[in-house]
Formats: sequence, structure tokens, C-alpha cells
Amino acid sequence: MKQPKHSTNISNVLVIGSGGAGLRAAIEAKLSGVEVIVIGKRPKEDVHTVLAAGGINAAFGHVDPQDSWQQHFADTMIEGYHLSEPRMVELMAKEAPELVQEIEGWGANFAKLENGKIDQRFFGAHTYRRTCYSGDYTGRSILNTLLKKARELKIPILDSQYVTELLVHDHLCFGAMTFNIKNGERTVFLADSTILAAGGHTRIWRKSSSRRNENTGDGFYLGLKAGCVLTDMELVQFHPTGMVIPEEIAGTLVTEAVRGEGGYLINGKGERFMEKYDPERMELSTRDRVAMANYLEIIEGRSTPNGGVYLDISHREKDFIIEKLPRMYRQFLDTLMIDISEKPMEVAPTAHYSMGGISVDADTHGTGIEGLFAAGEVTGGLHGANRLGGNSLAEILIFGKRAGHHATQRSLTLDVQHRSRKVIQKAHDKIDGFLKNGSEVARPLQRELRNIMWEHCGVVRSEEKLKTGLNLVNQLKDSLALLDVRPDSEGYEDLMLAFDLEGALMAAEATMLGARARKESRGAHQRSDFTHTDDEHLLNYTVTLNTNGDLNLSKKSLDVMEEHLKAIIDDTTEISDFKGMLLE
Ligand code: FUM
Repeated sequence: MKQPKHSTNISNVLVIGSGGAGLRAAIEAKLSGVEVIVIGKRPKEDVHTVLAAGGINAAFGHVDPQDSWQQHFADTMIEGYHLSEPRMVELMAKEAPELVQEIEGWGANFAKLENGKIDQRFFGAHTYRRTCYSGDYTGRSILNTLLKKARELKIPILDSQYVTELLVHDHLCFGAMTFNIKNGERTVFLADSTILAAGGHTRIWRKSSSRRNENTGDGFYLGLKAGCVLTDMELVQFHPTGMVIPEEIAGTLVTEAVRGEGGYLINGKGERFMEKYDPERMELSTRDRVAMANYLEIIEGRSTPNGGVYLDISHREKDFIIEKLPRMYRQFLDTLMIDISEKPMEVAPTAHYSMGGISVDADTHGTGIEGLFAAGEVTGGLHGANRLGGNSLAEILIFGKRAGHHATQRSLTLDVQHRSRKVIQKAHDKIDGFLKNGSEVARPLQRELRNIMWEHCGVVRSEEKLKTGLNLVNQLKDSLALLDVRPDSEGYEDLMLAFDLEGALMAAEATMLGARARKESRGAHQRSDFTHTDDEHLLNYTVTLNTNGDLNLSKKSLDVMEEHLKAIIDDTTEISDFKGMLLE
């Protein structure tokens, strides 16, 4: 068997993804005394975590002393429309304060109260002020801190590594195959345990808060090919407020913190329209409801000149805005020459977060494939049908740490390291198969896919749209074999785009299969042909890849909630009776 030239790297724990979840996992592994390596495709200082803006939730009760982990648990379960895994939510709500405190100790610069405690701001649909923040660059602050800690611990982090395959033999993962995006050099990373922390897939929608080449669904593709189960892929969060112009960056996040700090939503007719949709909570209603409200104002003809709605914070003092929302202030000045302390912003819904993902055990974040763990946005189960803002940064710290711990424990029990020549050869063959001249180019096909997802699986879906969308995705799949992939002066970007496209198409299909099956409106999943929440669908739709390369859809009952957790929810008044009926 011919082996193409490659190098081999051996560690105890391999972490794929250098965002917050991956780094926190790696730190845990290193602190527990094993050798760990982190690989990522983007420059480590500029991974997607830096875009997380408004904050991280932890029920400290620093501002509202009535807050508790129980209330955080209840808010997350209720606002997730009861689809979240209760045990996962319990762990997040209980462990968030300790991990926020820990990262503050490592150097994260959270805003403080006069008494020196971490300040907490309102975020949508939280009962109390619970969101800790560093201006509107909380993700950046957390990432910088994790990078500093990783440097102190001398954890190697390799950039420009594109993972093409998880190496799996007999349901056991023994590492990953990569190529270097700059020079094409391949590396076989061998490890006792592998942690996948490769993000979600919201860049495959036309309007997205993710940048080019990030969140393209590669994590889901790797997971499916390794034998993992994906859960709730149809549950994709549309953030209510993405930028509308300039066109090239349409969808870029305008943080919820603008509303948390008092911003109003106003339609093209000058009406503060949240009054109609949630008179109690107004702009701080749940994300799904605010996104739908914005969507309806726009499609019903009450939009702004550029097709959005206004988000106005100009009634607050300029100094206050610059202190609390420095990035937003700069973003609008830099891109549109708009001073948001004087003028409103134009915003519209944007694909923001994959709430579904790889199914994992709540405690260990094991995937069911031996030696393979997952953490962060690539996983499903925590957020149900509607994620509360600020819960994702909590998620990456808590479950990054847990995945790191359990991956390490597995490594410590092993005596020999597994590997399979055949599996490695197949991974080489897969790469070789793409490297050829062809008649199709990946970028325009990606653009086509993004348009399909926006039109056919966007904020509001229907059987007709999804059926057409699936056909279009299937047609696009035929182009994969015709891709033109050749290294050039820019390196191996073509090859990355080819794999990205294959991954994106698989993630798109999994999403549409789930969306078609979920014949109801629940949270972020809104259907014009099934406008009510229907408890027949109080279950998870799961997707697996079969040996023919086809995706299979199944149903899975929800885990039974333990009595003590049920009691917490029963004791908490449901502040919302919203059943997904905005479309009527
Ligand atoms: O709007 C935001 O700042 C986003 C936060 C989040 O998605 O958690």
C-alpha cells in the first residue's frame, strides 16, 4: 500500500478547535498531567469565540440577590421549550459561577460593581440580571485569557490545520488526519482521546453572524463520518439583530447587549413594535420571539429603507454607550460612518447559533464513539429550541472543562495506543480524490448553498420550501465530484473549500431533514404550515450517516427529568405562554 509523505504527531489528548471550548478542554488535560495538543484552522487569536459579544451567564446574584442556579435552570428549560437535556442544563446552571470566577482569576476583565464584585446585566428572557460582561467583547476577553493560560502551561496550539477526517476503527477514535492550509503538508495526529470542538454551521445561511470559512458545518461532518449521532439539527437560532448593510457583511452581529442596556426596536413607521409581541418584556423578550417580530415587521411592509428595523440606543449618553458597547460604537463608525449615539442602527435577523449538534453524554461529553469527546457549539442538547443569550460562553467553559477531564481520565487508563494503517490510508485517499482539475469552483457553490438555506430553511419554513431546498442541495452534491482543486500561490485553500463544501452540504441536508420532520412551530423553528407548538413533537430528531453515505432520520424520546429538577420548574412561574403562534 502506497503511503503519501506525511508526518505523525503523538499525544495523549488531541483537541480539534482552538476556540473557547477547545482551549478550556486542553487546559484541563494539561493541568491533569497529560500531553495535549490543540489544532485549529484559523489563527488562534481570531477564532469565532472573539465574536461572542454581550456576556456569560452565572447566577451569582450580585445585582439581583434573589437569583439562584435553580432559576437559571428553570429559565433555560422553559425558554428552550423543554427540549433541552435537563442534566446538562443543571450542570451548566450549577457550575457557571465557579468557572466564571476561575476565569476572572486567570485575568478576564469583567465589568465590576463599586463593591468589586462582577457586574451583571440583563439579557433577553432571564428572570434576573445574570449576564457577566466585558463591555461588548466578552468572548475576546475570555479567549485572550484562555490563550494566556495555555501559553503559561506550554500547550502547543497549531494554526492552519484543516481536519479532513477523524480516524476511527471499530468504533474507536484514535486521532485525526489534517493538512496544512498553507503548504498542504499532511499530519496524522494520534491520540488516546480526541476532543472535537469545531463549532457549528450557521455560516451556511446567506445572512450569518459568522465570518467566511468559519462555522461551515465541518464539525458535524466529521462527527457524522465518525459514527456520531446528530440531534436537533433543525434548531438553528436566528439572532434578531444582524447588520443589514453594507451587503458584504450583512448579518454581522449587533449584540443583544444593546437591548440589555436599554435599546429600542422601532419599525419604518416609527412604532416601538415589541409592544404587540411581548408587552411585558418588550425588547428583552426571548430571542426567537424578537427575531420573529423583526421578521414580521419587515415582511409585512413596515421595514426601514434598507429592509430592516431600527435599533436605537441614541437616547443614552455617548459616554455610557462607549463604555458599555465599545465594539458596536466602533463597528458602525468603521463600516457605515454612523455614530450610534446619534443615529439608530438598521438590523434584521441573522443565522447565529447551531443549537443542535453531536449528541453527547451530559456529564462526560463522550460521543458514544470510544475515545471521542465533543464540546461547545458542535454539540447539541443544552439549548433546546431557543438558546438564552449568554449561555454559550458558559457552555464552552463548563463542558470544555468536563470534556478535557474525561478525555484525560480515559487516556490515563490506557496502556497501548490504537491505530489502523488501513484507516489512515483511506484518509489519504480521500484527500487525493479531491486533488484534481475540474469544471466546478467551490466558492460560487457555497454561495448557492447559502442562498438555498436562507430561502428554503430560513426564519420561517414550510414543507414546500424544505422539499425544494432538499432537492436543490442534492443537485449541488453532484458538483462535488467535478470540483477544481489545485494548490496555488495561496496554498491549499481550494482543498479546504472542497472539504468545507462537502461538510456544509451534509450539515444542510441533516438540518432540512429535521426541519421537515418537525411539523410544528417551536422556538427558533417556525413553520408557516404548522403554526402551533405540538407536544407530539416534544422529542429529538436525530440524524446518522449510514454505510451507503445516506443520512437517516430517527426520533428519540426525551430523557426523563429527575423529580428534584421537575420540582424546580413547577415552582417557577412560567412568565411566557408563547406557543409559537406569531404566524397566525
Ligand atoms: O448578542 C449577543 O451578544 C450574543 C450573545 C450570545 O449569543 O450568547
